[in-house]
Amino acid sequence: MSIALVVLGAGMGTRMNSDIPKVLHPIAGAPMLVHAINAGMGLDPEKIIVVAGHGADRVKAAARAYDDSIEIVLQTEQLGTAHAVDQARSALAGFDGDVIVLYGDTPFIRPETLDKMIAARTSNDVVVLGFDAADPGRYGRLVMQGNALDRIVEFKDATEAERAITLCNSGVICANSITLFDLISAVGNDNASGEYYLTDIIAIARARGLAATAVTCSEAETMGVNSRTQLAEGEAAFQARARAEALENGVTLAAPDTVYFAYDTVIGRDTLIEPNVVFGPGVTIESGARIRAFSHLEGCHVSQGAIVGPFARLRPGAELAENVHIGNFVEVKNAVFEAGAKANHLSYIGDAHVGEATNIGAGTITCNYDGVMKHKTEIGARVFVGSNTMLIAPVKIGDNAMTATSAVITKNVPEGALAISRVPQDNKPGLAIKMFEMLKAKKAKRDKGTK
Ligand code: UD1
Ligand code: MG
Repeated sequence: MSIALVVLGAGMGTRMNSDIPKVLHPIAGAPMLVHAINAGMGLDPEKIIVVAGHGADRVKAAARAYDDSIEIVLQTEQLGTAHAVDQARSALAGFDGDVIVLYGDTPFIRPETLDKMIAARTSNDVVVLGFDAADPGRYGRLVMQGNALDRIVEFKDATEAERAITLCNSGVICANSITLFDLISAVGNDNASGEYYLTDIIAIARARGLAATAVTCSEAETMGVNSRTQLAEGEAAFQARARAEALENGVTLAAPDTVYFAYDTVIGRDTLIEPNVVFGPGVTIESGARIRAFSHLEGCHVSQGAIVGPFARLRPGAELAENVHIGNFVEVKNAVFEAGAKANHLSYIGDAHVGEATNIGAGTITCNYDGVMKHKTEIGARVFVGSNTMLIAPVKIGDNAMTATSAVITKNVPEGALAISRVPQDNKPGLAIKMFEMLKAKKAKRDKGTK
């Protein structure tokens, strides 16, 4: 069965008090919209349609950055959830698979939950995702008749008896595309809000003799974000789950509550993560690596046996092979370290290639930027880069070469050569004593003057 996702994200999100469209606020480094779409990616959707309204240009840019096949349809006026889904009608003309409606501000729906809905669809025309609410508040209520879903009643329109129902509507709905748009055509706005409710399609479907049911999930999955407080709660919920998953997957977290994951962090078994480590998007760590305290990693790959930190920063394009060591106050950007290479102290290595078993001395800098363009530094295998070497890119250092401490390397260094570029030392006998005396006398004169 082919699937289309329709993700609603036109709402203003007034309570966020923000210039940014609500669905673009991030959790774990990705817009909430991306989390919502990701939940449906396991179903291998043929089409993904995002309904945008407020800040549609920004929503479009973010969605396309994630997947450039995503279609954006505009809902200029927010007239209700049925009206929102209806905006996808022409984008889905000719599509006769199933549609799953998701909310862009509900980022925690699990892929397995959507699988359950698809399974329930085989014997039902419409499947709604419900949850048992601890505090049902203003959610729509699911009115069941045995296993059949009879209708959904919105809080505002509900009787006291209906408000007592705790089985609530998450908003996620699945139906065949043609059926769905047929049902939506029959939805009116004669209700307490004057809106076109998507939830009305259930009663309409039942009146037409179609079968509807509800599948349930935990309330945590259906958590929506409407305010900064809920955004922070959402982040905390995501992190709690990511930490638990990492531990289950055989990753050691010395202090789980201090480690922050991104939505796509991948960490292999038997990796040890020390306290206060932050993962930005795009990090893959192989098994048996060690990420030491206070390190920040994004867009990078760390291989088996590598040690990173403490206080290291791996930026996008950092690629560490087996047993590489990146130590304290070392920043690596767009650079490959081949197996066993080391940069243990106080260095910036950017736009570079570092060969196998090469040692980068403390204070080494690849001077990759001339103010306009970036240039590459290529360092061979088994090279010894002396402390405080400035490598003025573009530049190449051959295998088995050495640079002397404090070298400023402007020309390529041939294989096996030692490059020295510093002013020779000149010792002046007794001059230090004279200097001290002169300076002390100067200070005494100045102190007298200020009295
Ligand atoms: C909706 C459901 C309710 C359910 C609740 C779960 C309806 C009528 N009600 O209520 O049963 O319990 O969600 O959270 O469907 N949106 C648009 N365009 C619109 C209206 C809404 O894109 O014209 C989007 C919003 O941005 C949001 C989602 O649809 O992402 C839900 O809209 P919202 O106004 O929050 O619906 P609720 O009143 O909470
Ligand atoms: Mg809502």
